[in-house]
Amino acid sequence: MEKEIKINFEVISSYEQLNDIEKTLFDKAKKIRQNAYAPYSNFFVGCALLLENGEIITGSNQENAAYPSGLCAERTAIFWTSANYPNEKIKKIFVIGGPKDGLSSTPIPPCGGCRQSILEYEAKQKDVIEIYFTSPNGEIIKTKSIRDLLPFSFDGTFL
Ligand code: THU
Repeated sequence: MEKEIKINFEVISSYEQLNDIEKTLFDKAKKIRQNAYAPYSNFFVGCALLLENGEIITGSNQENAAYPSGLCAERTAIFWTSANYPNEKIKKIFVIGGPKDGLSSTPIPPCGGCRQSILEYEAKQKDVIEIYFTSPNGEIIKTKSIRDLLPFSFDGTFL
């Protein structure tokens, strides 16, 4: 029997539609992108997280000559957050990326590995994390939970 999985997402048509804190997150993700260390892919990604205490944590992708030793912007920011604020909930994640000297005109979604990590922290904090993946002038895609980006997910309940 064939079945369907329905996922929910919102399309935010432009930056102007964001509220003030969301605009700040967008701006910080865009700015930190410039600190990416991405000499191999030349693909610069920035990420900004909003914590429950109101703090904003940022990260960028960090590459390595031994390719798998690098890390995406999202995980750089999330792991640092959990290491330094183990009891603070992550409320929102903004991601923006593209070639070094330009931004992609379409929203860049988090990769599979980052989705799996975000899922782990939703489970850890027992609360959802809103994900926004963005393009500079175009649309922004928002999901209310990583579950919408990772159907049939594997988590600690299977272990
Ligand atoms: N990258 C991220 O930082 N986040 C993603 O979700 C997708 C990919 C980085 C990893 C690598 O440094 C570069 O983009 C090209 O894949």
